[in-house]
Amino acid sequence: MADIESLLKEKRSFKPSSEFVKQANWNKKTIKEYRKLGAKDPERFWAKMAKKNVSWFTPWKKVLEWKPPFAKWFVGGKLNVSYNCLDRHLVGDNAWRRNKAAIIWEGEPGDTRVLTFGDLHREVCKFANVMKGLGVKKGDRIALYMPMIPELAISILACTRIGAVHSVVFGGFSAEALRDRIEDAGAKLVITADGGYRRGSPHALKPAVDDALEGVSVVENVVVVQRTGQDTRMEAGRDHWWDDLMKDASAKCPPAKLDSEHPLFILYTSGTTGKPKGILHTTGGYLTHVTTTAKAIFDLKETDTYWCTADIGWVTGHSYVVYGILANGTTSLMYEGVPTHPAPDRFWDIIERHRVTIFYTAPTAIRAFIRLGDEHPKSHDLSSLRLLGSVGEPINPEAWMWYHRVIGGKRCPIVDTFWQTETGGIVISPIPAGVDTKPGSATLPFPGIDAEVVTETGEPTVPPDGGFLVIRRPWPGMLRGIWGDPTRYKETYWSQYENIYLAGDGAHRDASGFFWIMGRIVDVMNISGHRIGTMEVESALVSHQKVAEAAVVGRPDDLTGTAIVAFVTPIMGKEAGPELIDELRGHVTKQIGAIAKPAQIRFTDALPKTRSGKIMRRLLRDIASGKESVGDTTTLEDYSVVASLREGDE
Ligand code: PRX
Repeated sequence: MADIESLLKEKRSFKPSSEFVKQANWNKKTIKEYRKLGAKDPERFWAKMAKKNVSWFTPWKKVLEWKPPFAKWFVGGKLNVSYNCLDRHLVGDNAWRRNKAAIIWEGEPGDTRVLTFGDLHREVCKFANVMKGLGVKKGDRIALYMPMIPELAISILACTRIGAVHSVVFGGFSAEALRDRIEDAGAKLVITADGGYRRGSPHALKPAVDDALEGVSVVENVVVVQRTGQDTRMEAGRDHWWDDLMKDASAKCPPAKLDSEHPLFILYTSGTTGKPKGILHTTGGYLTHVTTTAKAIFDLKETDTYWCTADIGWVTGHSYVVYGILANGTTSLMYEGVPTHPAPDRFWDIIERHRVTIFYTAPTAIRAFIRLGDEHPKSHDLSSLRLLGSVGEPINPEAWMWYHRVIGGKRCPIVDTFWQTETGGIVISPIPAGVDTKPGSATLPFPGIDAEVVTETGEPTVPPDGGFLVIRRPWPGMLRGIWGDPTRYKETYWSQYENIYLAGDGAHRDASGFFWIMGRIVDVMNISGHRIGTMEVESALVSHQKVAEAAVVGRPDDLTGTAIVAFVTPIMGKEAGPELIDELRGHVTKQIGAIAKPAQIRFTDALPKTRSGKIMRRLLRDIASGKESVGDTTTLEDYSVVASLREGDE
C-alpha cells in the first residue's frame, strides 16, 4: 500500500512563451547540459557554478568533504559575502552599477528610499566600522529585531563584512521568543528600531527588546534605528541611536577574507513542537547555491526590478531579498508593510509604480487576494511583470491558475519553488525556459540536487504513489547543523534513512517525474487505512468557485479511525450556509473521490497562521477534536482567529 495516496488528477500544462525562451539566462540546451552534469557529477556542477557566479579571494582545495551528516563545501576557499553583493559591482566591467539601484524601499506610509550599489556599499562599510567600535569580532553573534527597513539589509551585510554571525528574529515575535533566541545564540549585540509601520500605525519594537534583555547578561550593546519617532526609553551605556554612531563612522572597511565554512547566519525555525531550532548556514556553499538558483530560476537580468514580498526575518528574505539578488547585481524592492494598507490594491499599486518585472510571493497572500476580489489587481497596469514565483506552502492548482491569469496576464511563467530554511536555497522548481509547468507542481529538482520520493523503507515510490521527500546527497546550501545541538540535528534530519536528508514533507512524482508536494508528513490523515495528504483535499475545496482558502485536518472517529474536518474561508460576499456545505462535500467527492469527503465543514473568515503565512494545522486539529492546545503558539499571527473558532464550538 502507498505511504501516501495521491488523488488529485491535474492535467493542465503551460509552455513558456517563445519570447521568454529566447531571452532566458538558462536556455533549453544549458539546462539539459547542467542536468546531465548535475546528475553524473554534482560536485563538478557546483564547482562550475561557484567559479562562475561567486568571486573568491582564494580558490578552494576540495569541493566537498562529506562526513555524514556533516558537510563542508569548497574547503580552503576564502571569500566575503558583502564583497560579492557590493564591491564586485563597483569595479571592472560592472563599475557602472555604482549608480544602479540596489534597494528600492517603500515604507508603509508611502515614504520611499533608493540606495544605489554605491550607497549601500558606503552604508555597509560604515556600519561594519560601528560594530567594530562596539567591540564586535569575527564569529560573534548579532541579533536583529527590526522592521523591513533598509537598515536591516545594511546590518546583515555589515555582519558578513566582518565575519559576525547574524541571527534575524522576525519583528512580530514576542519578547520571550526574542529572549530565547538571544540566549540560545549568545548574542553580544542587538540591533533594533524604535518601531515600524504596520496596518497604518506605528508599532513599537524597542520595549520588547527591553523586556527580552531583562536579566540577560550576554548582550553588551543595543543599536536603535529611529524609524517611527515614537517615545523610546534608552538605557544609558547600553543603548545607542543608529544615527549617532553612523555620523562619524569611516566609510572604509576592507572585507574580511573568510573561510568558505565560516558561519554566516543562524535562523530559528519553530517546527511543530519543542524549542526553536537555530539553523546554521555557512558562507561559500550557501552563496553559491542562492546566487546560482536566483539567476537561473528568476532569470535575473540587468534591467529587472525584482520584488520578493517576504520579510527578511524569514529565510526567503535572507536568500532571495538580499543575498541571491544583490550578488547578481539585481535591483531588489523592499516593502515595509501589509499588503492591504491603505487599500486592498497596495501590492498592485507598488508593481505599477515601480514597474516591477519579477514578483515572488506566498500562496497565503495569493489566496487572500483571491478572496478580496479581482477588481483590485484589475485596476492596475501589471504589464511590466514577466515572471512570477511562489514559495512557502503548496500552491493549490486553482490559486495557481488565478495567479497565472489575473496577475500574470497569461504571459508570465510561474516558478513554484520548493525549499526550506534548512535547504538554504531553492531545491525543487521550474527553470522557466526549460519545463512546461503544471499548476500545483514544483516540477523538477534543480541540477545537482538529488531529490527523491521514497517509501518508509527508502525505496523510490512508483508513480502516482506518494511518500517521503528526501535529498540523497549533500548540496552546497544545506544547513550545517542546529546551533549548539548536533544530536538534534542528526535525529531530526538524518535518522530515518542512513545518510539521507529527510525534509519532513510528503510528495509524489507523476509519470513525467514531476514532484508534487503534498503537505507536511505530520499532517497526513489516515482515513479508513488510506493515508491522505492535506494539500489535495484543500485544493479540491479551493477549486470550488465560492472558496478562497481551506485547511483540512483529521479528527478521531469511531468508525473510520480519522474523519476529515475542513475549515473553509469563502470568497468575500459569497453565501456560506448549509447548502454550501452540501455542495462542497459533493464537489470534493467529484474532484478526488468519496474517501476524501469532509465529515464536517466549518466556515471561518480567517485561518490560524504563522507570521510567515503558513496554516497552523496543529491548532486546527486541537480545535476539531475539542482539545486544549499545548505547545508553541508564539508564531501565531492572530490569536483572535483561534479564539473565535473555539467560541464557535460552544
Ligand atoms: O512544507 C514545505 C513548505 O514550507 C516548508 C519550509 O518552510 P520554511 O523553512 O519556513 O521555509 C519557507 C520558505 C522556503 C517546507 O518544508 N514549502 C515551502 N515551499 C513550498 C512548500 N510546500 C509546497 N510547495 C512549495 N513551493
